[in-house]
Amino acid sequence: MAITQPASRPDTKPVAVPANPRFSSGPCAKIPTFDLTKLGDAPLGRSHRAAPGKAKLLEAIETTREVLGVPADYRIGIVPASDTGAFEMAMWSLLGERPTEMVAWESFGAGWVTDVVKQLKIEAQVHTAEYGEIVDMAALNYDNDVCFTWNGTTSGVRMANGDAIPADRAGLTLCDATSAAFAMDLPWDKLDVTTFSWQKVLGGEAAHGMLILSPRAVERLESYTPAWPLPKIFRLTKGGKLNEGIFKGETINTPSMLCVEDYLLALDWAKSVGGLKGLIARADANTAAIAEFVEAHDWIDFLATDPATRSNTSVCLKFTDDRIQDGAAFAKAVAKRLADEGAALDVGAYRDAPPGLRIWCGGTVETADIEAMLPWLEWAFEAEINA
Ligand SMILES: Cc1ncc(COP(=O)(O)O)c(C=O)c1O
Repeated sequence: MAITQPASRPDTKPVAVPANPRFSSGPCAKIPTFDLTKLGDAPLGRSHRAAPGKAKLLEAIETTREVLGVPADYRIGIVPASDTGAFEMAMWSLLGERPTEMVAWESFGAGWVTDVVKQLKIEAQVHTAEYGEIVDMAALNYDNDVCFTWNGTTSGVRMANGDAIPADRAGLTLCDATSAAFAMDLPWDKLDVTTFSWQKVLGGEAAHGMLILSPRAVERLESYTPAWPLPKIFRLTKGGKLNEGIFKGETINTPSMLCVEDYLLALDWAKSVGGLKGLIARADANTAAIAEFVEAHDWIDFLATDPATRSNTSVCLKFTDDRIQDGAAFAKAVAKRLADEGAALDVGAYRDAPPGLRIWCGGTVETADIEAMLPWLEWAFEAEINA
């Protein structure tokens, strides 16, 4: 009797794990060439206001400008408290001069709505969409100030472009671009305030925020004083004038020069892979590998309903198999299997988001690692559905 070989079964464990299984959406994977010994030039134990420290901070600002293509007349500052610090500093300093349009399609945008409605108590029109959907940006009143998130990190839904934002708007646009900067084209002429953190697409460290201001945002800062008090770490003006020092590296309080060095290393790597274009191509290739997998499997889909708004950084997926009874428990169990096998770390959906997986695809992630992880995803799904 002939012995039949078992057909290749999807529940057979793959052999190779990704060289780097870190797919967290923040802090994100460090640059592929990262090595702690490369931070040796950090001026540790020196004042950040001494010449070497100041030069590093200015270099961080100007290299950011170069890589992101930020216009020469926009200010770039390094501020405290990561992206949250940068965005809240902007809201607290600029809003209240006119009504505000608050836009949210996932939990971080929703957090900014809470800030404005419940804390600042500013007159606001709130525009929301469900997870997976996006707000119609053409329906907003741009005579008001508009606050929005370019890439919704917890839903994997991003702005396709900035076409809906009028060039001749009377209000300011405040954009939380923390999971978009260095992975997506940002139309600077449509953005008056842009914020991000080093810990996201470049795989830097948290705790420092980047605040980018258009000339119109500066004009507002110099012509309007909010009705509420501002703590020292939010103060961007001095005697009614912009505190220009902040935008030359004279930070409001003490930064970590180790983190600055790490950011400079990441920027250097970014330039080595082709700058912004290269970074976008890397994120797109990672996302395309996942899209191909999704296409080939009928039990998984993107949370983003419109491919045009699908993120190329925080890729959010949902399980669609009818056999799944408890979606949250199932997704958690799959994520645990992936972590236990060293195939993918930190890929569970964000706590406020619908159950599923979130796989970071920003430029510091290697496509080969995404490709090595996907057979494990298939294995983990099959193992869990048959458990
Ligand atoms: C869209 C968005 N905004 C804000 C934050 C908060 O960032 P941080 O913790 O760097 O302040 C995050 C973090 O994931 C985010 O994804």
